[in-house]
Amino acid sequence: MAGRVKIAPSILAADFARLGAEVAEAEAAGADYIHVDVMDGHFVPNLTMGPPIVRAVRRVTELPLDVHLMMEAPERYLADFAEAGANILTVHVETCPHLHRTVEQIKELGCRAGVTLNPATPAASLQEILRFADLVLVMTVNPGFGGQRYIEGIEDKIGQVRAMLDDGGLHAELEVDGGIDAETAGRVVRAGADVLVAGTAIFGAEEGVRSAIERIRNAF
Ligand code: DX5
Ligand code: ZN
Repeated sequence: MAGRVKIAPSILAADFARLGAEVAEAEAAGADYIHVDVMDGHFVPNLTMGPPIVRAVRRVTELPLDVHLMMEAPERYLADFAEAGANILTVHVETCPHLHRTVEQIKELGCRAGVTLNPATPAASLQEILRFADLVLVMTVNPGFGGQRYIEGIEDKIGQVRAMLDDGGLHAELEVDGGIDAETAGRVVRAGADVLVAGTAIFGAEEGVRSAIERIRNAF
């Protein structure tokens, strides 16, 4: 594990009518990234947000914006998201037949390049791209909705990706996303995760954003 574990609150679970305040609260509580879930209604069965929301969030925080593109043909929109203020652009291996080209496009736009894979896509599918990636995201639920249950046992796959990175002497961050809370956080960190995305467990917490983030941090 490369140093301190980062927390990336997902605004999908925020109150959109108070989005600026929610993001500011997460930043003040020590969040490391703001995670933005983009869904296109094709790759995943849900529609969420696009570049205008990234632009709006960019105005209210200094934190890196970690944009997760759950969409077909993401290469069509990379420039729009970069221009809107994204810092990390993460694409799914399932949507990119020319993944190396897409990763290079992201870097040419001045962003960090993330690659991610669905729960049923094997870790081995990352083998050829890992050395080009700045971040690798292991989905711990099937993408498409917040508030789903963590898939039991998926820490085996997190461990496999951790080993691939370490064996290759690679320094991409290892992020996990879906069903992360104070209970699952310890398991994914022990398996080698560096960055934890959490939506419901942070913005949906009755105790408030600050104590929810503290609770997750205290879990590992
Ligand atoms: C799922 C999204 C996640 C989601 C996480 O498709 O990629 O980022 O917002 O939400 P929770 O933490 O509620 O599972
Ligand atoms: Zn996400």
